Amino acid sequence: MATNRTFTMLKPDAVEKGHIGAILEKISASGFKIVAMKLTQLTKADAEEFYAIHNERPFFADLVEYMTRGPIVAAILEKDNAVEDFRTLIGATNPEDAAEGTIRKLYAASISENAVHGSDSDENAAIEGAFHFSGRDTF
Ligand code: TYD
Repeated sequence: MATNRTFTMLKPDAVEKGHIGAILEKISASGFKIVAMKLTQLTKADAEEFYAIHNERPFFADLVEYMTRGPIVAAILEKDNAVEDFRTLIGATNPEDAAEGTIRKLYAASISENAVHGSDSDENAAIEGAFHFSGRDTF
């Protein structure tokens, strides 16, 4: 994947609350082009692999349960400086600390149910995008 791409998930809480449209609108209005997208649901094994870096943390079991409880929207986004700009757009992990106007400030309920994922490096964007999409699903 080119380094001007990032990977996102609209997490189960955002989908349950009907925020898909509003969040995608904000993503598009912020200059990101959607180059792959699907509605899908993570299995327990998927979530454990995706968040393996956190598997020793006290919140890991709750994180896996939350991320598997309903559908998510997975997408690959393209924009200059995509990874950093998308992290700015979503805001801090804890919505209480997120800047005004960010997606987490607007739509996240708590640090554990924080509405949206954004890759934290170009390397992870490539790994996470490939986790969900094959080349023929990506434009
Ligand atoms: P992390 O990679 O630190 O944050 P981000 O999603 O902003 O890159 O954590 C991954 C997810 O783990 C986070 O989005 C929500 C969950 N989490 C908790 O439930 N509790 C916590 O204390 C932390 C740090 C994260």
